[in-house]
Amino acid sequence: MADLTKPAAIHWVDGSPEEYENLCAQMVATGTFIKLNQNLWPGCYYARSTPDDVARVEDRTFICSLSKDNAGPTNNWENPYTMRKKLKELFKGCMQGRTMYVLAFSMGPIGSPMSRIGVELTDSPYVVANMRIMSRIGLAVFKEIDKDYTRVVPCLHSVGSPIAPGQKDEPWPCNREKYIVHFPETREIWSYGSGYGGNALLGKKCFALRIASNIARDEGWMAEHMLIVGVESPQGEKTYLAAAFPSACGKTNLAMLIPPKGFEGWKVWTVGDDIAWIRPDRHGCLRAINPEAGFFGVAPGTSVKTNPNAMAALARNTIFTNVALTPDGGVWWEGMTDTPPGKCLDWQGRSWNPEIARQTGIKAAHPNARFTAPASQCPTIDPAWEDPEGVPISAFIFGGRRASAIPLVYQAFNWSAGVYIGATMGSETTAAAVGAVGKVRRDPMAMLPFCGYHMGDYFRHWIKMQRTLKVTPRVFHVNWFRKDDEGKFLWPGFSENMRVLKWIIDRVHGRTQARETPIGWIPHYESLDWNGLDFPAEKFDQLQEVDRAAWRAEVMEHEQLFIDLHDHLPPEMIYERELLICRL
Ligand code: OXD
Ligand code: MN
Repeated sequence: MADLTKPAAIHWVDGSPEEYENLCAQMVATGTFIKLNQNLWPGCYYARSTPDDVARVEDRTFICSLSKDNAGPTNNWENPYTMRKKLKELFKGCMQGRTMYVLAFSMGPIGSPMSRIGVELTDSPYVVANMRIMSRIGLAVFKEIDKDYTRVVPCLHSVGSPIAPGQKDEPWPCNREKYIVHFPETREIWSYGSGYGGNALLGKKCFALRIASNIARDEGWMAEHMLIVGVESPQGEKTYLAAAFPSACGKTNLAMLIPPKGFEGWKVWTVGDDIAWIRPDRHGCLRAINPEAGFFGVAPGTSVKTNPNAMAALARNTIFTNVALTPDGGVWWEGMTDTPPGKCLDWQGRSWNPEIARQTGIKAAHPNARFTAPASQCPTIDPAWEDPEGVPISAFIFGGRRASAIPLVYQAFNWSAGVYIGATMGSETTAAAVGAVGKVRRDPMAMLPFCGYHMGDYFRHWIKMQRTLKVTPRVFHVNWFRKDDEGKFLWPGFSENMRVLKWIIDRVHGRTQARETPIGWIPHYESLDWNGLDFPAEKFDQLQEVDRAAWRAEVMEHEQLFIDLHDHLPPEMIYERELLICRL
């Protein structure tokens, strides 16, 4: 690869603190990093991307399986031979003047039978610094590779911006042309032109979801876009839940929930906030690990009120990207405090103040601004978060951002009905990906941008998984975002979501009644624990309403996706749809 990309130097990343210090100092020198005020933000750095490199680029993301049919209609496909030729052209000499970092990383705790190893060759020190937080890297991983010649997933990444002799480097090098390419059969990732988030930190979406979903299908496990939490009752009963929500729908907040007033003695433990690798153990029970070691969280909206645990996690040793920079060398973003700073530099380095915001609507932080923070710093990190065997999963929760029609919570009648609920999930789009924001799109299991093969086969895999289980997790759907006729949220969300989690747990353990509706089981008003919250029954009924006319329209929209997937759709999905229509 060095022969192809022609870097000026090659650096084998050992993962040591000294190496990290050097990398950061070097990035401060090139302007990529600004060292934050160390009294306020110890160990923290600040980066600004260019305005054309701020989010995942789904339209530039490719699944290059040998046959187009294997990628399915929801993925961009290109013939792998054509793509390889194209990539070889693009990568030719693309690292000139730069250092190629050889970054070995483990997704999952080193040595866990559920972990997988990758090696990312990258010309971006920013990527190395972020991957150091997001995964386990360096010498310990090289040792794992040496131990049994473990198969690694090769990942090649370049910002696509060679430096000519005598030319000065830019603070955020990247290329207008971007390619995020996956070869599922050979388990390879090639990423070109972007330095941002999931486009460049290849362990995350590219490996832990798109490539891992292929490995998981072949090996009989699941790679899911899910948070994992352990909910502990005052009696010490611990129940683990895994929940799938589309990008920027509050997974990080739910993963770090602090129980509300009235739930004294309850604890929510964080295992992961974005990705779960889930596998049946020898007792036929599903166990999950978080393959990541850090949080790459959306900054705007995160505050001591909405997510104090995230604020504690990001208080030190964190990299901030595309937030605002305050005059005292700190960071700020919309929603972090009630009162904005009197002035600051926005995410593009321009002067910003609340008056400018009022007049122009310009935000200080980009809506997809992120913090990269070590998971170990989260006050609620689960004592078992690095358990090599993973934690036992009792329920799956699907959820989306939906202003109407979808109740606060309902339970699937059984596994295949649950798979149907996940498969037909819809959500309003957010800023996590480039494109229009606020349009409802179908996002099956929150995996639309992340499933590395045909979505119909993915549903089939879900259906099949149950046959390997002795204990089938219960399946639920939640919607924290339902609005009334005036456009106001009906549900307070955040901490109060604990009430819904408790009902889910009570259902899992067979301790509470539910009411049957055409779409599934829903709680009676009395089944939720209202201790500490004044929430009228009428409002709850409004939140839980299953409007048959709205649901008929909803089913028509399920059909849109199903038509595209029809030739790979498992029959269970057709039957579930028919049953739903009959019940409606
Ligand atoms: C993420 C995403 O960054 O889903 O987690 O976009
Ligand atoms: Mn995500």
